[in-house]
Amino acid sequence: MKQESQQSVLSAGKDGKPQFNIGICGMGTVGGGTFTLLQSKHEEITRRLGKTLKVTHVASRRQNPAFDTSNIRFSTDVFAVADDPAIDILVEAMGGMEPAFPLIMRAIESGKHVVTANKALIAVHGNEIFAAAKRKGVTVAYESAVAGGIPIIKALREGLAANSIQWLAGIINGTGNFILTEMAQKGRSFPDVLKEAQALGYAEADPTFDVEGIDAAHKLTILASNAFGIALQFEKVYTEGISKVSIADVNYANELGYRIKHLGIARMTDKGIEMRVHPTLISNQRLIANVNGVMNAVVVKGDSVGSTLYYGAGAGAKATASSVVADLIDIARASGSTSGSVPSLAFNSLRTDVPILGIDDIECEYYLRIAAQDKIGVMAQISQVLMTHGINIEALIQKEPDHNAAGDVTVPVVLLTGKVQERQMNKAIAAIEALEQVVDKVTRIRLELFDGEGN
Ligand code: HSE
Repeated sequence: MKQESQQSVLSAGKDGKPQFNIGICGMGTVGGGTFTLLQSKHEEITRRLGKTLKVTHVASRRQNPAFDTSNIRFSTDVFAVADDPAIDILVEAMGGMEPAFPLIMRAIESGKHVVTANKALIAVHGNEIFAAAKRKGVTVAYESAVAGGIPIIKALREGLAANSIQWLAGIINGTGNFILTEMAQKGRSFPDVLKEAQALGYAEADPTFDVEGIDAAHKLTILASNAFGIALQFEKVYTEGISKVSIADVNYANELGYRIKHLGIARMTDKGIEMRVHPTLISNQRLIANVNGVMNAVVVKGDSVGSTLYYGAGAGAKATASSVVADLIDIARASGSTSGSVPSLAFNSLRTDVPILGIDDIECEYYLRIAAQDKIGVMAQISQVLMTHGINIEALIQKEPDHNAAGDVTVPVVLLTGKVQERQMNKAIAAIEALEQVVDKVTRIRLELFDGEGN
């Protein structure tokens, strides 16, 4: 293994154009994809940029023979890249908090720009990272952290800069979407599909991040800050994964004209900002309901433009590298420019006057599945509870009786409600569960009509 080999310190490329020296930390899916893309697109990037991007240092635990790094400095210690005076931009492609967080801070302190795909790190430590970057006058870019290859950060920060964002909703975890799609279309079991997503390289190192919605919550945190100009507040995102979604619910939703998707939703309301990640019923007429497999999509509603939709690959080497390299190009383009750069979280001053709402304060429609005894009057009692709590029934189906293993006979009652505050819905659910004829916990899935707006 070659370590700490020759250092490439060039101020200008062979063509005489200014050169930016790139150091890549981590040569897995993201780092390797970025390395390959920079090599294969070298000429075109130089033509776009009028400057050269050259990888001069890579660091990873071991050298990967798949990448020809023979004329490039190689280190097993990622901090050697942060300390390398020849490096202009450090690409953090390792993921996780350690050593990514101290590495990025050290690179910033050394006056280097940073490009990272690390959504967990930005969501949790981004405020500190951006403050340090601002002090040092360097850029920390993270387009690839959210929705892989989709330029959603650029869309929010630049393309939609004239808008007040009203809400956004996204399928921002490819693994979760793949699992729900396979369950809906092929009736496949949850663990079976998860194994395939892992083999395809989409799942996080810890797959509970995908399945329990944590990865989506990281990404939603970043989207919400860019949409509303607020500090990153990951701890305030309500997070629910897909592990409790059953094939029965997928099928009932389908009968009612809905798909169940795992959505990240951020909405500005009169009372504050909603930030929530959970399985959601969406009308099957909507484009986003038809985003399947590992694909990602984000709908953004701006007050001027209306509703816009961004769709594409949310993970994988090529898609993620597409965003990493776009960030590198942006940094190189802006370098030396005296015009204002784009603020890290879209706004030059962040709002502190608007609260993030707890899940009890949100309002939406609901899907409820209630397992009740097959007795006269059950439906009337459930309707009575909902009426007492001021909840409207929009649709209702009562299925054929089910016989469980213990020989009990229950009827699944499936209904869609009108809009109601979650706190009120919790009270109604508690009252339904207290009915003698209701034999199990009520299944509740939130439903989004998106104010009837398109996409
Ligand atoms: N585990 C993530 C996903 C990878 O499935 O979307 C991309 O962030």
